[in-house]
Amino acid sequence: MCGIVGFVGSEPAAPILLDGLERLEYRGYDSAGVAVLSPEGRLQIEKCKGRLAVLRQKLEEQPPMTGCAGIGHTRWATHGEPNDINSHPHVSENGRVAIVHNGIIENYVEIKEFLLHKGVRFRSDTDSEVVAQLLEYYFTAGADIMDAVYQVLERIDGSYALGILCADAPDRFIAARKDAPLLLGYGDGCSFIASDVTAIIRHTRDVSYMEDGEVAVLTKDGIAVYDRLRRPIEKEHHLVDWDVSAAEKGGYAHFMLKEIMEQPEAVRQTVAPRLQGGRVVFEELSLSPAYIKGLSRIFIIACGSSYHVGMLGKYNLEKLMRIPVEVCLASEFRYSDPLIGPDTLAIVISQSGETLDTMAALREAKKRGSHILSIVNVVGSSIARESDDVLYTWAGPEIAVATTKAYSTQLVLLDMLGLYMADILGRVPAEEYAAIVTALEALPDKMGAVLSDVESYQYLASQYFNHDCVFYIGRNLDYALGLEGSLKLKEISYIHSESYAAGELKHGTISLIETGTLVVALATYAPLFDKAVSNIVEVKARGADVVALTTESQRDRMEKIAPNVLTIPDTHPILQPSLGVIPLQLFAYYIALQRGCDIDKPKNLAKSVTVE
Ligand code: G6P
Repeated sequence: MCGIVGFVGSEPAAPILLDGLERLEYRGYDSAGVAVLSPEGRLQIEKCKGRLAVLRQKLEEQPPMTGCAGIGHTRWATHGEPNDINSHPHVSENGRVAIVHNGIIENYVEIKEFLLHKGVRFRSDTDSEVVAQLLEYYFTAGADIMDAVYQVLERIDGSYALGILCADAPDRFIAARKDAPLLLGYGDGCSFIASDVTAIIRHTRDVSYMEDGEVAVLTKDGIAVYDRLRRPIEKEHHLVDWDVSAAEKGGYAHFMLKEIMEQPEAVRQTVAPRLQGGRVVFEELSLSPAYIKGLSRIFIIACGSSYHVGMLGKYNLEKLMRIPVEVCLASEFRYSDPLIGPDTLAIVISQSGETLDTMAALREAKKRGSHILSIVNVVGSSIARESDDVLYTWAGPEIAVATTKAYSTQLVLLDMLGLYMADILGRVPAEEYAAIVTALEALPDKMGAVLSDVESYQYLASQYFNHDCVFYIGRNLDYALGLEGSLKLKEISYIHSESYAAGELKHGTISLIETGTLVVALATYAPLFDKAVSNIVEVKARGADVVALTTESQRDRMEKIAPNVLTIPDTHPILQPSLGVIPLQLFAYYIALQRGCDIDKPKNLAKSVTVE
């Protein structure tokens, strides 16, 4: 989704902005642009549809921008098609004010009509342009630029992270935030804004997170922040401890492959500090045993792959805790008048911690008195900050749009949380508890073993990359696992795929199975292995090509039934999907590779979805 970076310092802003935008590419975008304030006090803008390389090319073909203050943007179109004119920055009619904007101005039609009536001429179809034009309107009406900013913020509804550059206020720029992430970076003789920390981590690790209603004025000497009543406020500083190299490809062809390979280590980072003396320990949790014992129900709320983690969590948490668990898509939950209250725990899962629907669902659950426990990767993100409790996944930066290591760390953390709460409820026998802990300890090495041989996935991909329809089938945990496998495939290879509960197949979908249809049959959940076999026989009888995934202990039995068998090491059934997801990620990756797709930046998708 859209990315913002802003810089003011003593060196030319344009190269720093372009470098920052490059690091935001992973969020997904369709156009990009920069605005720099020239030493003579003129706004210089360059923007265009397409990849950053196109913008770079355009900039190289003209005299260099030498100004030391500027703002940059990568746009993921919402209002108005992706084209040069709709790209950001947007400039006011007299060319004195430029803005970049993430979010949506919900009342832009009304404001646009007001300004059109005043004779203002608009250039783009975007909602964002009204901010630039309204700023000019108030500014020329006699306000100073800060007065104008506050008047505009008073007038606009919706969500925004804004970077504002004004030709009449040199050596500085202004930032504002409401319901869209924006952070401030404190450099040595320079200051930054960014929609996420990867954009500026090369320059500074000293950051503050802007809160809703805050406005910041950035100069090379520092950053002044004001609240919605324009009172100065002191911001808390945070030190970002992500390794810069973690956001680089490090020799891999794609971030996705690198992140797949990083999973054993990421899971180790998530698990190891929370296992002490054979016990699961969550020192960071404030949930009291009394509260856990009083729970009548648990809601898991998330979007996308995080939702799929929740689907697996439902099976495991219910099995362990014997408390009903509902898994809700955040976009549905927020408008469903949910039956949630003080005796329900809301577990909110989000890699980015910024997904707008998830955030809105969190607020809805909180308003109704539910305790919010979030599982988040990005430290200091909005969801983390608004939760009562946060469990961080410590997966490090995830750059590929299609999530892999974040998914795996979320999953293992949710399983650990289930075990922890079930133990407090006295519902896990001691041997079972010990068996799961032992399996958790061994998990990273077993993940490593799955990753040590990728040739079978490469081979299968070469056989099936030109299929145009794939079905994933499975039961229980395998069904929930198939949802993620299918999503991975369609996200990056653009092959239509569906995931079905295997027992449900015969109620409709089996009519689509014909000679040559590819079915990925998941049979890793030991208690239902025989049922999975029956379903494989059913689809084979209709001519399907089957790729089966099972555990090593079932390999021989499966090889008698399925022509292509992939295996993973056996582990405790609760943790089996943590191993099972890896072959599905690799299968999707190598298929997309064969098809020549843009794996790290799939079309139309965004890493962090900050609009509804
Ligand atoms: C986007 C990403 C997905 C992710 C989903 C939820 O659609 O492309 O990979 O699962 O958002 O994101 P979150 O950051 O809330 O986990």
